[in-house]
Amino acid sequence: MRITKAILPAGGRGTRLYPVTKSQPKEMLPLGTKPTIQGVAEEVVTAGATDILIITGEAKRAVEDHFDPANGLSHSDTPNDGRGPLFDHSVVEFYYTRQGAPRGLGDAIRCGERFVGDDHFIVALGDCIITSPEPAAPLHRMLAAHAEFGAEASILVQIVSHEATSRYGIVAPGPDVNADAFEMSDIVEKPGPQAAPSRFGVCARYVFSPKIFDYLRDLEPGHGSEIQLTDAIRAMIADGHRVLGVPLRAGELRLDVGNFDSYSRAFFRTMLTDETYGEDLRAYTANLLAHLDDPSNPDPDLPTQS
Ligand code: G1P
Repeated sequence: MRITKAILPAGGRGTRLYPVTKSQPKEMLPLGTKPTIQGVAEEVVTAGATDILIITGEAKRAVEDHFDPANGLSHSDTPNDGRGPLFDHSVVEFYYTRQGAPRGLGDAIRCGERFVGDDHFIVALGDCIITSPEPAAPLHRMLAAHAEFGAEASILVQIVSHEATSRYGIVAPGPDVNADAFEMSDIVEKPGPQAAPSRFGVCARYVFSPKIFDYLRDLEPGHGSEIQLTDAIRAMIADGHRVLGVPLRAGELRLDVGNFDSYSRAFFRTMLTDETYGEDLRAYTANLLAHLDDPSNPDPDLPTQS
């Protein structure tokens, strides 16, 4: 099975990042030298997507401008300098639709029903990237398991701390189907430590068959009074459909820009490991930390005496 469609939800208001996101999308915040959602698009394209639907909303125009093939920047002869088109638009096509109001992730995915048609598709949340030593390796594993076991949904999961279970969809794992994937017996949105069935948290990447829309169509609001994708998946499992969990491996990370704490860590990490800027920045950071610990050490932002 070849999966070529991807939905990137980017409609959320980003209120946890105010005032930064009052008029600009959180998905446009940089991780390293590119906007977060560009990294997400590169990930799904690497995994085989050629048709990408971005679910936008209020104050999200910048996302569309960013992916425009001719967005006013003069095309340069230097490849990959970020001035020209970001993708080969003869291969990769972007589509946009607006979520009328931020009614939750399930509602956002619902907006993609016509785009998806009868095809299986990827969902990649637009506010976080998954880093891995091999580009898009987690998505490749999900797609392989999804096809091999004829799943209706395959979901990336990561171990989260006990206290953090209230910030994730949490999965109840069933038996392993192979070394990369297990069958899920339940899933619950943001349950908190007492009710959490495990520490496997849903990690921003999904592969679905169009059956998910049968469960999204009439879904009532759930956690936080929002239409929750997790609730649709839960109902699908309860009806006996096969849903797989695919865990992140060592060396793979989810970096998200959802709040200032996670965003600042994600930005530091991507800059400090950047091929071009990382080395100098690591030296600068070491000097800055030495100065902050003991102000008699030189301040790296001031010129040296000599
Ligand atoms: C969403 C999902 C949640 C998932 C999380 C991270 O929550 O509803 O199940 O664990 O993304 O992928 P959000 O962070 O958008 O509130």
